[in-house]
Amino acid sequence: MIDLFAEVSAYCRLAVPEEYKRPIAIVGAGGIVDGAHLPAYRLAGLEVVGITDIDLTRAREVATRHGIARVYATLEELLADDRVEVVDIAVPVTHQPPIFRKAVAAGKHVLAQKPFTTNPETARELAALAAEAGVVAAVNQQMRFDEGIAAAHRMVESGWLGTVTSFSLSVNVFTDWSQWEWAQAMERLEIMVHSIHYHDAVRWFMGEPSSVYAVAGRTPGQFPVGETRTTSTYTFPDGSSAFVYANHMNAGNDNTAEFRIDGTEGAIRGTLGLMYDYPGGRPDTLEVTSTVVATDGWVPYPVTQRWFPHAFIGSMGSVLQAVATGSTPRSAVSDNVKTVELVDALYRSMDTNEVVHFGR
Ligand SMILES: NC(=O)c1ccc[n+]([C@@H]2O[C@H](COP(=O)([O-])OP(=O)(O)OC[C@H]3O[C@@H](n4cnc5c(N)ncnc54)[C@H](O)[C@@H]3O)[C@@H](O)[C@H]2O)c1
Repeated sequence: MIDLFAEVSAYCRLAVPEEYKRPIAIVGAGGIVDGAHLPAYRLAGLEVVGITDIDLTRAREVATRHGIARVYATLEELLADDRVEVVDIAVPVTHQPPIFRKAVAAGKHVLAQKPFTTNPETARELAALAAEAGVVAAVNQQMRFDEGIAAAHRMVESGWLGTVTSFSLSVNVFTDWSQWEWAQAMERLEIMVHSIHYHDAVRWFMGEPSSVYAVAGRTPGQFPVGETRTTSTYTFPDGSSAFVYANHMNAGNDNTAEFRIDGTEGAIRGTLGLMYDYPGGRPDTLEVTSTVVATDGWVPYPVTQRWFPHAFIGSMGSVLQAVATGSTPRSAVSDNVKTVELVDALYRSMDTNEVVHFGR
């Protein structure tokens, strides 16, 4: 069993080989860059040559805190820097597509925060622009590199559960939305900026659904206008199913974030440590039971890396690997177009109170 876990653990390792490293510049000096991107890049020894933000005071503060040599006065100045090979975009979603277009037109590789756009047409347009320009472009769905999730995916991929029959994820937390002033007016909120990670993970594990259904809720007096509680169900062409529930208005002070994957030969159960105390978090937990690898009951897998900041090494490392070797990033824009389409379908279901069918 320990040998089998060693293979899974090797798959989850987040180091970036020296030969993959390329100079990175960052657009956006907000909370996520300060608290997760830059700490992760420091751990991995990545080279950040400069940063910009429309709030230059903030850019300078973050540059000083993280030892970044250059603050660009504008995006144009950043893109004109020939040293910059990868542009790391982390600004509110409405600002991301114009920055993405300019970066790609300048021949830079791109990693864009999630969601890279709210709109499937724009998602397809941006993916096509990147493909035409011949640059690597990925979306920062770094939950695919969170160790609990990545290890579970490797176990499933290795056949430990036999045929997967269901994926479920349930999150009950309190989120202080007022920390993101731009989130206040977003009518499509919870899935668009948070549960998009979970829905992207459902696609990664289960493939494309044949239909989805979603409902949304709000709490009286809440800060944002958009939904803060969502329930989504999926059916897949092979008869398997998925369920995602996320409640951000938990008044019980007992945060939980649990996932479970069931198959014909076993099951995996785990917790997302980040959501127990966001953004500090705690380690994930992960346990597996399988008749394929004969665990003789539930066995814990030893998680040693966190979602924040470690998984951010993975999303950037995957882009750098693609630049260096021609591989496809784990969360390439071409794939993420389908996540944006899925999110849009979930909102259409909420708006109409009807199941959305994909014709699969
Ligand atoms: N786990 C995750 O992947 C995760 C977590 C949090 C936020 N995010 C995403 O990251 C992005 C940023 O979130 P945040 O928490 O850092 O928000 P934030 O409000 O803390 O910071 C946003 C920053 O972007 C800057 N900005 C806005 N428009 C800009 C523009 N046109 N050009 C340059 N800078 C601009 C703002 O001045 C601000 O400094 C959002 O898209 C959000 O959805 C992802």
